[in-house]
Amino acid sequence: MPPVPSPSLRSPLPVRRSELATPASNERMFEKAARSGADLVFLDLEDAVAPAQRPDARKKAVEALRDIDWGTTARAVRINGVDTEWCHDDVIDIVTRAGEQLDTIIVPKATAARDVWWVDTLLTQLETKLRRERPIRLEVLIEDVAGLEHAVEIATVSDRLDALIFGAGDFSVSMGTRVDTNFVPTVPYPGDFWHHARARVAVAARIGGVLAIDAPYPDYRDPEGYTREAGYASALGFSGKWAIHPSQVELANEVYSPTPDEVENARRNVEAYREAERSGLGATGVDGKLVDAAHVKLAEELLARAEALRAM
Ligand code: GLV
Ligand code: MG
Repeated sequence: MPPVPSPSLRSPLPVRRSELATPASNERMFEKAARSGADLVFLDLEDAVAPAQRPDARKKAVEALRDIDWGTTARAVRINGVDTEWCHDDVIDIVTRAGEQLDTIIVPKATAARDVWWVDTLLTQLETKLRRERPIRLEVLIEDVAGLEHAVEIATVSDRLDALIFGAGDFSVSMGTRVDTNFVPTVPYPGDFWHHARARVAVAARIGGVLAIDAPYPDYRDPEGYTREAGYASALGFSGKWAIHPSQVELANEVYSPTPDEVENARRNVEAYREAERSGLGATGVDGKLVDAAHVKLAEELLARAEALRAM
């Protein structure tokens, strides 16, 4: 998948409009996940798998990574948290046995930079031992109050990092929020309940120059709700959203792709600005609206994203 060049993000970063969760214990779901059209699929060794099944799920994840044709879909595994008995075996087993068939490890429940640093260091040891040439990438879940507080340090601790992911489910637990199973407040609340946490994750991700990916939306029979939440996050600068069901993948891909109107406007703004520049001006007007350097940077980032998607 082609990378997305961007002036304000670490370059190159991958396209991650949709990230589909698949329990690694359930091999019946693997083929469907591989054909879902998701930009990334992750085989989950953590909370979608019963604790007693976790070592067995590891074996199934390795087989799936090796045996299934994933096409251009990025292949990831969500390991168990660094404070659990499974974490080090997850990393060592999966990386050793899946070889080059693994692109990314997702680290859940990060509370501080050292959690990510620990995984990064273990990966470096393994890559050296295994003579692996392509470094394994990381994505990290911000889903704990301490993790949110330390999000900037987490976003800047590792060159392997591609994304911060906001995890509304565990964050609700950590925060003691009063929400339903879809993470919607069960009492009246003024405004967007998740704005604060999302905005902080988005800002931290930008400081680290990495992508921000939005939380899962458990109600897979509510496409309108999914699209609404994906839209809120995309307005804040998020680049994609988790899907917990294949039917949500297309919705995410749609929301997080620039629309033809956005592309057209961006082109016009860039052209008008370049034209103005040639006449020695630093700003111009398009349809009665000011276009200056900031508008052009916004437009260029959008066009780069559109180009990366077109090339896919
Ligand atoms: C994801 O892991 C979440 O807790 O929302
Ligand atoms: Mg979680």
